[in-house]
Amino acid sequence: MKENMSKETAKIMKKIRFGVDYYPEHWPRERWETDGRLMEELGISVVRMAEFAWHKMEPREGEYKFEWLDEAVRVMGAHGIYTVLGTPTAAPPAWMIEKHPQILPVDSQGQQKGFGGRHHDCQSNEIYRTYIRNLVTALAEHFKENPFVIGWQIDNELGNSHEDLCMCSSCRDHFAQWLQKKYGTIEALNEAWGTVFWSQTYDHFGQVPAPRQTPTAHNPSLLLNWKRFCSDLVVDFHKMQAEIIKKIAPHQKVTHNLMGFYDKTDYFKMSEDLDFASNDQYPTGYYFDPPGQSPAEVAACMDFIRSVKRKNFWMMELESGPTGGSIIGQNPRPGQNRLWTAQCVAHGADAIVYFRWRTCLFGSEQFWHGILPHQGVPKRRYYEIRETIRQLSPVMEDLNGIVTKGEAAILFSYEEDWAIQLQPQHPELTYSGTLLKYYKQLYQRHLPVDFLPPEGDFSEYPVLIAPLLYLMNRKLERKLTDYVKGGGTLVLTMRTGVMDMENVCMSRLPLPGALGAIAGVEVEEYDCLLGSQVSVAYGGQKGTAGKWCDILAPLTAETLVTYDSDYYKGKGAVTVNRCEAGLVYYVGTDLDEGAMEWLFDRIFPDTAGSRPGNPAVEQTVRKGAFKDYLFLLNHSAKPQKAAVSGSWGGEEIQLEPFEVRILEKERS
Ligand code: GLA
Ligand code: ZN
Repeated sequence: MKENMSKETAKIMKKIRFGVDYYPEHWPRERWETDGRLMEELGISVVRMAEFAWHKMEPREGEYKFEWLDEAVRVMGAHGIYTVLGTPTAAPPAWMIEKHPQILPVDSQGQQKGFGGRHHDCQSNEIYRTYIRNLVTALAEHFKENPFVIGWQIDNELGNSHEDLCMCSSCRDHFAQWLQKKYGTIEALNEAWGTVFWSQTYDHFGQVPAPRQTPTAHNPSLLLNWKRFCSDLVVDFHKMQAEIIKKIAPHQKVTHNLMGFYDKTDYFKMSEDLDFASNDQYPTGYYFDPPGQSPAEVAACMDFIRSVKRKNFWMMELESGPTGGSIIGQNPRPGQNRLWTAQCVAHGADAIVYFRWRTCLFGSEQFWHGILPHQGVPKRRYYEIRETIRQLSPVMEDLNGIVTKGEAAILFSYEEDWAIQLQPQHPELTYSGTLLKYYKQLYQRHLPVDFLPPEGDFSEYPVLIAPLLYLMNRKLERKLTDYVKGGGTLVLTMRTGVMDMENVCMSRLPLPGALGAIAGVEVEEYDCLLGSQVSVAYGGQKGTAGKWCDILAPLTAETLVTYDSDYYKGKGAVTVNRCEAGLVYYVGTDLDEGAMEWLFDRIFPDTAGSRPGNPAVEQTVRKGAFKDYLFLLNHSAKPQKAAVSGSWGGEEIQLEPFEVRILEKERS
């Protein structure tokens, strides 16, 4: 029986391409039919519902009310629309908080946050977890045989709204247990963290604080381990719910709406509990933070989400209207909804769910616009999306489930990200910003990219770019060394091999530590460029570099770029070293765009002739079951020309503002 149901769900999943985030609880019952009909006419086959509706589901403790949701699922089903149900655990109701105020989270100043907003919860709190277990069990039991419910989204954007995560006494106790499991004895922790500094030696695990505010800075080892603990706590919180659903309704799929490079939770770990990953993306960015994300950044987010499971993903929330709160962001221009949708498909979305169906009249997101305006009548955005769905559906059918394989990989490690956040070295140096800088070079060359965790299989990729490997361990050193000796091209950067995994400086070897042997280089000295830049020289050209300078002394490496100013004028800034069958580039500074392009012409000689392309036009290839597709995406508000490569006809193509053109080629 369950097996048949699993097959049935898999069959349905393959047919789902477009959806909306729908909140039936925000509208009168009489409106639901109209919504269903308008959705059907739009081409919608799935809704995500109920991820904040705890009070509607459990108005009083233990009194579950799912009839309204049955009804909403039924109305949608009558229009051929399936449902992904959210567990509403991002919004614990007021009665629960009144009875158990200790569920409220505590911030780094030791202040308890108040009820309201959402995620006003402590994820380690046992009372809260008991309420969740009971509700999720009842929900899964109730909906397990509903033919229209195909899956579940657990909570909502876990890690979001949890800037420092909770620092209450329950979380501190869980941290102590986590540390005990990791270190075994308190002496081992003291040794690993160097707690002798400022007399921070602990006598037992219970003394280790959650890093609340102190008169001066915390021990970096404590801070890094706190971030690891917080991430593990979120993974565990999610797993608890996923396991209940999988046990009761194994034929229904489990997903979570991840947020690109959002950094509070290790998505590689969390995704082990997902049947498929989902992503939320608002390309114009948040209204308070214009001008939003660059097209390359949006592309990178989606390549990353595809990489966490190495499977195609769903967009669970794609911006469909102006974002807004107290200030309102820009209305998507004609063509932009289509452009963003096509970009999702180009990067591996099997289904696209727009946030949200209709703009809410009340609550803190009353200006966060959906497809329909407040009045609920179809207007420009509705018709554009309808046209987009008609245009893209056949292409998506051919592409369904077929995963793009990167021609290059970028190593992504949450631990590196956290360590650089804690000590950025230079105020403007960020892990994600640096990764994006390298990603952009690949994007502009139209090379597909996968992101790999340190545990990934490097040998599948001819080129591995591994920026800011600040924390280092023997295992990773060995893996990278084997990769290079086996013929891989590795790109390392400044601040490689600085710390051990406990965030303690390593001193056995000169920087970049053991990897100096394959890079054929030593860092003689370094210089942080606070408020200044240096000149660099390469291939007869001049450029600039910023943020940081590793002053390089090549051992066996060849110098490609030299510094051209300051006391290290003439010294190495970028080197390349042949090591057995492979190559190692060491980029000791943050190069300007021109120098990066020159360097990438060396790393990818085959792409050197294909530029200058038009950077406003993205070109991304996807292979379908029957055809290959070239997505030409004009991300600018102006007409653009783009030259496509010989294998795509070699012509120069004229594109209107925000135009999407998809070239198709039968498989030869
Ligand atoms: C997030 C959330 C949604 C909604 C949107 C818009 O991505 O998941 O619930 O709040 O932002 O703000
Ligand atoms: Zn807590």
